[in-house]
Amino acid sequence: MADAFDLIIIGAGPGGYVCAIRAAQLGMSVAIIEKRGAEGGAPDLGGTCLNVGCIPSKALLDSSERFAMTRDHLAEHGIKVGTPKLDVSTMMQRKDGVVKTLVGGISGLMKKNNITVLGGRGEVLGSGRVRVIGKTSSQEYQAKHIVLAMGSVPIEIPQLPVDGERIVTSDHAIAFAAVPKKMVVVGGGVIGLELGSVWARLGSQVQVVEFLPQICPFLDADIAKALQRSLSKQGLEFHCSTKVESAEIGKKSVTLSATNAKGETVSFEADKVLVCVGRKPVTVGAGLAEAGIALSDRGRVQVDNNFRTSLSGVYAIGDLIDGPMLAHKAEEEGVVLAEILAGQANTLDHHLIPNVVYTEPEVATVGITEAAAKEQGRKVRVGKFNYAANGRARAADATEGYVKIIADDKSDRILGAAIIGHRSSDLLAEIVAVMAFGGSAEDIARICHSHPTFSESVKEAALDCLGRVLHS
Ligand code: FAD
Ligand code: NAI
Repeated sequence: MADAFDLIIIGAGPGGYVCAIRAAQLGMSVAIIEKRGAEGGAPDLGGTCLNVGCIPSKALLDSSERFAMTRDHLAEHGIKVGTPKLDVSTMMQRKDGVVKTLVGGISGLMKKNNITVLGGRGEVLGSGRVRVIGKTSSQEYQAKHIVLAMGSVPIEIPQLPVDGERIVTSDHAIAFAAVPKKMVVVGGGVIGLELGSVWARLGSQVQVVEFLPQICPFLDADIAKALQRSLSKQGLEFHCSTKVESAEIGKKSVTLSATNAKGETVSFEADKVLVCVGRKPVTVGAGLAEAGIALSDRGRVQVDNNFRTSLSGVYAIGDLIDGPMLAHKAEEEGVVLAEILAGQANTLDHHLIPNVVYTEPEVATVGITEAAAKEQGRKVRVGKFNYAANGRARAADATEGYVKIIADDKSDRILGAAIIGHRSSDLLAEIVAVMAFGGSAEDIARICHSHPTFSESVKEAALDCLGRVLHS
């Protein structure tokens, strides 16, 4: 008789492992299957986020920010340290250490919560039945509920065959052994701008080739333009409305041929080409087709409002299903689903999922954009406040950017916000919290904010929505 659990989860990324913890807290017996690193023994938990995504990229963003600050700005503060010397190998070791600690921490959390970790590739055999294929053997398990949380992998395009050496994905660009002299980033989205920033700060000549007329198409055009301007000042070069047609891979470099907005053929030469044109859900290798689990038109696993797939007793969360491919979205879905399985009523408001681009300046957004409000014919008021008018931002030499709050014209309820500026990720949390309580611009405007803090800019933008801005 196969081992049986209340819940078996396939994939131990932020969606899967958080779902496992919450389900265990609610009294379920839980097993989680992970294939990453399983050939070498115990699997590496934490998914894309911890191993090759959020964490390593942020570790490198932090290191490269310190390097660029030391090189370009310390002298302005009267701190003279000479020209800093870069040691890429130490930087990578630090990043690997951060990843290792956090990945180990997830194993500790599994133990603490009595969750069984099964190393190998998980396959759904039908309702209530899962097989784990290990290095040398496979075993079948039974479960009342099965959760699919297999995440996503980089999209590849035929013109740019990834070889891991000259043409790479983010998996490789978080682990270069040396600074590429020239790097072409294909795709001006989140990964392109974050990892493009890392290598540009460390001295690479970075060119971003974007298919659409603006970078980060999900942002309002004013914010995207401001971000492009800031990054251009940092040395990144942008080629929007440009389509890569082909690549010629040489021994030491790659030459890309592309068509620009005017229809002209242009070429780019680089020692590394980073392809970051989006990610696709992992819908193969887990028995989905064989088990008859339906996919949506967009190729993601189709679920209803309670995360139920087309196969009874099988659920899906995270990058695998519709919505933004973000770690915190996957985590929240994991919690909500575990509570639903335990018989509680819960739901996730997708409108309130924040989104951050961790460049410098950062871009943090939530809710509706100004453009979407217009498209929907909604009457809104937009309040703005520049970092340049904020005392703390001045003191910190972080005057680039602004806060933008979008409120309903009649009710004053906050519908969305976008902040471009230093540590805007932290500032956005206040707006998300107020929105979660159905709050208004007036609510934020009436809250006493510490002085001097960047957060006063949020209050001022709210005041601007009401025509009562104080410091501009
Ligand atoms: P994943 O994290 O992808 O985990 C799925 C796991 O399932 C993987 O470990 C995989 O090995 C395993 N798996 C797949 N198939 C099987 C199988 N058949 N059997 C067993 N195991 C299987 N998001 C943010 O919110 N903030 C960020 O700053 C951020 N930065 C990022 C930077 C980069 C470079 C990248 C690539 C992504 C970043 N993301 C970020 C996105 C984030 O990593 C994902 O949204 C998140 O990891 C999705 O979680 P998940 O649990 O759905 O899937
Ligand atoms: P993305 O969707 O953010 O950006 C892809 C970009 O590539 C878009 O601007 C798109 O127009 C462009 N593009 C598509 N096809 C192209 C082509 N053939 N040539 C040139 N440009 C092309 O995808 P990205 O950057 O790969 O990231 C994947 C996902 O990972 C993100 O959508 C996000 O969900 C997640 N992520 C989140 C981060 C964060 O929260 N800070 C950081 C990194 C990734």
